Amino acid sequence: MKIRVFSSKSYDRSCMADANRQHGFEIEYFEAALDPTTVALAGGADAICLFVNDRCDAEVVHELADLDVRLVLMRCTGVNNVDLDAARQRGLCVANVPAYSPYAVAEHTVAILLCLIRKIHKSYNRVREGNFSLDGLVGFDLHGKTVGVIGYGAIGRVLCGILGGFGCRVLVYDPFAKSVTPPAAACDLDTLWREADIVSLHCPLTPDTHHLVDAAALDRMKDGVILINTSRGGLIESSSVIEALKSRKLGGLAIDVYEEESGLFFSDHSSDIILDDRFERLMTFPNVVVTGHQAFLTREALRTIAETTLNSAAEFAAGDTIRHRLTG
Ligand code: NAI
Repeated sequence: MKIRVFSSKSYDRSCMADANRQHGFEIEYFEAALDPTTVALAGGADAICLFVNDRCDAEVVHELADLDVRLVLMRCTGVNNVDLDAARQRGLCVANVPAYSPYAVAEHTVAILLCLIRKIHKSYNRVREGNFSLDGLVGFDLHGKTVGVIGYGAIGRVLCGILGGFGCRVLVYDPFAKSVTPPAAACDLDTLWREADIVSLHCPLTPDTHHLVDAAALDRMKDGVILINTSRGGLIESSSVIEALKSRKLGGLAIDVYEEESGLFFSDHSSDIILDDRFERLMTFPNVVVTGHQAFLTREALRTIAETTLNSAAEFAAGDTIRHRLTG
């Protein structure tokens, strides 16, 4: 089976090569992201392997089907960048990696939360410049705070357990969760907005959750609330968040994902002029911490991603049931 990997980085190549030892697939790697201008690179392949910012919309799906590509291997959980209806219509099988390391993302969520509320991003720079002043570095305890977790899936559940260890009161909103177990307790969205000192987003990006955090939602939250997003950028309406930071309604923001991250994240733009004014405005706030979609990036997660992805390819090649298939 011939597999073309788009948006590949050095760490993808080494993990895929390790996982491929037991399969022997013919794998070709491209740094380019998939979009209408690069889709031709898939010609001659049986399968393509994509990541979060590859563009696999209806136009690209039709091109892929015309090129006789039969399998789309998403090496991630979220598939909001794939038009699944178009894929179904063209008989294209799409598989994802539903869980690779919920610990990686949950732990990163806590890392950026603690960085923000204990001002580690500021003290790191100060100490390196020989400035040991503590002025402006007063933080607050997590212990005793109410954290609202939206989405009680694999990552949300692990996060709730970690937060329980910190002595937080954990409220969960997930309309599809069958049960919520201690230390977390289920609540409705209004209660979560009203009572949470910290809100953390762990639901998928869907038409229902798009801009879940908008001006109206922010209005219902506590003054000085902390907002964390390691899920998908589109859950947050960036312009409303900027206004809420300016008015101090929002006490801080820590994000690993950004609505317009494609074309920005995963590449070195340190010598470029960044043209996204909204992103640049966010970067001016002292109480904003941004990481570039790295919550998943642990050795354990990369190994599981590569193994699960190539196992799906092997199941497809053998005509077996593909455990993680979403269409086809
Ligand atoms: P999951 O599918 O296990 O859990 C998602 C949960 O969200 C489910 O329990 C579902 O019922 C719930 N949900 C769906 N619609 C909802 C709504 N309207 N309101 C509240 N809850 C809702 O997914 P998992 O593994 O926990 O991942 C969550 C998200 O994290 C993914 O969708 C993905 O976008 C993001 N992610 C980000 C990564 C990163 O590196 N920053 C890495 C992996 C995932």
